[in-house]
Amino acid sequence: MEFSIKSSSPDKQRSACVIVGVYESRKLTPAASALDTLSQGYLVDLLKRGDMEGRLGTTCLLHKVPGTLAERVLLVGLGRERELNDKAYLEAVTAAFKAVHGSGASDAAFFLSELPVQSRDLAWNIEQAVLIAHASEYEPGTLKSTHDKKPRKLRKLALCISDKVHQAMAETALKRGQAIAAGVALAKDLGNLPGNVCTPTYLAEQAQALAKTYKFKCEVLSQKELEKLGMGSFLSVAKGSRQPPKLIVMQHNGGKKGDKPVALVGKGITFDAGGISLKPAAEMDEMKYDMCGAASVLGAFRAAAELKLPINLVGIIPTCENLPDGDANKPGDIVTSMSGQTIEILNTDAEGRLILCDALTYVERFEPAAVIDIATLTGACVIALGHHASGLFSNQDKLAREIEQAANTSRDRVWRMPLWDDYQPQLDSNFADIANIGGRAGGSITAACFLSRFTQKYDWAHLDIAGTAWKSGKEKGGTGRPVPLLVHFLLARAGQAG
Ligand code: BES
Ligand code: MN
Ligand code: ZN
Repeated sequence: MEFSIKSSSPDKQRSACVIVGVYESRKLTPAASALDTLSQGYLVDLLKRGDMEGRLGTTCLLHKVPGTLAERVLLVGLGRERELNDKAYLEAVTAAFKAVHGSGASDAAFFLSELPVQSRDLAWNIEQAVLIAHASEYEPGTLKSTHDKKPRKLRKLALCISDKVHQAMAETALKRGQAIAAGVALAKDLGNLPGNVCTPTYLAEQAQALAKTYKFKCEVLSQKELEKLGMGSFLSVAKGSRQPPKLIVMQHNGGKKGDKPVALVGKGITFDAGGISLKPAAEMDEMKYDMCGAASVLGAFRAAAELKLPINLVGIIPTCENLPDGDANKPGDIVTSMSGQTIEILNTDAEGRLILCDALTYVERFEPAAVIDIATLTGACVIALGHHASGLFSNQDKLAREIEQAANTSRDRVWRMPLWDDYQPQLDSNFADIANIGGRAGGSITAACFLSRFTQKYDWAHLDIAGTAWKSGKEKGGTGRPVPLLVHFLLARAGQAG
């Protein structure tokens, strides 16, 4: 889809579809009102007759409205005017694009970006509209051998503003939205690929291809190099699989030389069967998504590179499979991590922390200003927070607040969870420095506590995205989260918060 910012009024649109809003009180937005005047009350008549009530999420497609130059007018219900908050806006815009795609129009003029959404501004409205437009046309690259005939899709979208003074700001928001959407699409694509295609080697190749396109540094460490580094914990998970593990190390050096980098560390388990502590069969296919943390790091890198963010950025992805095998980890095994701490593996299905701990030790060499790890780490986090918020844990209140701020701006939300020392004894082991599980109570917290033992040398935050990275059921698929959150965090660090 081709996007543009246009400063123009709805009556001048020769577009195939003009998109305007109507409130539940049947009050027209200024853009709808202009069309109504032009058509001598056609829209108001229609509302009076009850064809459209303006309820949130409803739409009404009109053809050849008298007096207008457009082929179609799409009325979009906005709900109650007083209740037009960000959630309502997103719902209305989602409904609008769904209707446009079904209409056969190949181009459209969008007049909802200037709606007075509570606590949000024009730039936010535009960025979100761009993200929703992209999401509305996203299709997973399927491996189906026959294809349904697809309806004609929107090719051009003009985001209309009424005043030229906002042109530059609107263009910036558009660019941002485009970059984030590209990162989201990459994260979705990688997540949706099956485990037999998206292997650790495949992920590494994708990282290298991305680095080549966007001209950032990428190095892939092989099993031998990981052995030399002493990553006994990471390697113990990988040894139950025939696919060799990889450590992907990426660097985008957009900032000043010597500026400490922000580091993103993503869990890249390309399939998690649980290992010897085998998972139940039901929905086990979804464990192909256990590399969504890694995918979000790649997505954030793509967006950061596309926006040429003036910031130094490091991306680390430990990637392997977790399978049962004669050579796999066994409950009770004790391994030595790169940090020197020994770990008793009481459950081989708690493998994410075992690969992350070594990556979190490795990242020390970059003297990072802050480290954020992103992982589909625990089912317990899904029980605690459901599918709306990612779990946020941090050893630094200021960093946590920055992430909360970015989550609010991007509406890719998080909820802070405790990391109190009181939970640490749950990880005591009789035979090693630490156990890899802490019992059922507070499962996502003890997982974060485990990681905290390896992150004491820097400011660190952990995002548990087990509930937010993909959708189950009929709409099964990756969500691309938390790419929007990460990009907004990086924008703020680059001094470009908006
Ligand atoms: N990848 C899973 C976490 C997960 C489970 C994500 C369900 C999304 C949905 C992780 O490796 C895992 O298996 N965690 C265990 C930890 C337990 C053994 C302490 C879990 O959550 O059951
Ligand atoms: Mn697991
Ligand atoms: Zn896992």
